[in-house]
Amino acid sequence: MNDIDACVFDAYGTLFDVASAAKRCRDDLAGKADELAALWRTKQLEYTWLRSLMGDYADFWQITGDGLDFALDTLGVDDAVLRDRLLNLYLELDAYPEVPDMLDRLTAGGIQCAILSNGSPDMLASAVDNADLGKYLTDVLSVDSLGIYKPDPSVYQLAVDTLGIRAERICFMSSNAWDVAGAAHFGFRVNWVNRFAQKNERLSGVPENEFKTLAELPGLLGL
Ligand code: LAC
Repeated sequence: MNDIDACVFDAYGTLFDVASAAKRCRDDLAGKADELAALWRTKQLEYTWLRSLMGDYADFWQITGDGLDFALDTLGVDDAVLRDRLLNLYLELDAYPEVPDMLDRLTAGGIQCAILSNGSPDMLASAVDNADLGKYLTDVLSVDSLGIYKPDPSVYQLAVDTLGIRAERICFMSSNAWDVAGAAHFGFRVNWVNRFAQKNERLSGVPENEFKTLAELPGLLGL
């Protein structure tokens, strides 16, 4: 990929492992950790889309808690202490192992790096601090200032406006296929980090490249 000035990353599922919260409570979840992680994430995302369509924005911390409550209710888990522990683990999710080295190579190569995420500013600041990624990022951008979630085009425009870089010189990475479609439809150059071996979405907006982890990104940019 040539003529790229900045790399902009989705946060959850792309830089940070959203399943790591449930994994760390595996013993307390009695065989339900994987199911809980999947349902929690699904409901969390559905609520972002539904609230955006309804014109009823609530920040990502509330939505993440609401999605967790739905998932626990569905799986018959009634434990307020465990609920709070799971939610608070969202503030210290593991970064995927290749992320620090990848960001180090990009920034050393003169590529500006930033996050553009649904996460609320506090959630993002905490996850970035916990994984010690702040030194690589010029901006950690949240939808919260807009009051609407991805894939509304105004979210991707926020990165263009804040970075002061044209969309066609911004390379966007997400593991979420629907976010990939939204960002490509908007006009970013997009790479799909297909960590979960998902099938192609049937949406407009296709990625330029697909790879399994972010370790491949620096090479793709000639670094
Ligand atoms: C985010 C969600 C989509 O970080 O993963 O914006």
